[in-house]
Amino acid sequence: MKTNKKLIKFVSIGKVVDDCLLYFAQNPQHIPFPIKRIYFITNAHTKLPRGYHAHKKTKQVFVCIQGSIRLILDNGKIREETVLASPKKAIFIGAKIWHEMHDFKKDTILLVLASEKFNLKDYIRDYREFVKYLKR
Ligand code: TYD
Repeated sequence: MKTNKKLIKFVSIGKVVDDCLLYFAQNPQHIPFPIKRIYFITNAHTKLPRGYHAHKKTKQVFVCIQGSIRLILDNGKIREETVLASPKKAIFIGAKIWHEMHDFKKDTILLVLASEKFNLKDYIRDYREFVKYLKR
């Protein structure tokens, strides 16, 4: 999938059409980092945006395996958005990218593959601090 956007980077996901649809992804063919952690979000409030942070080191791939979200990415200079509404549309989010997830459709399942184990110190949750961090 091509885009002329700078921050929205698609990751291809494998798909087998059998008596079901089977999607797969592995490092390095699909996921550009060894996966150290996965997490998934379900039962999100449809009116409650999530994210609003950047990571210092963690890289992530977001896949909406059910439902849809609107994803905003921001590198301190430009801000771009896309809608994730299919397991085929996985997005790579590098380190030092501010991200926000909006408009969770009911019953959405957002799967995230991450390059690092969970570490609270890896989070920047204040936008001004994020911009300062980028300039350091
Ligand atoms: P957070 O990353 O802020 O969620 P979102 O990006 O969806 O807004 O995490 C929410 C809470 O869950 C926070 O208290 C940290 C905790 N958490 C873990 O314990 N382990 C994890 O791997 C993740 C992603 C979050």
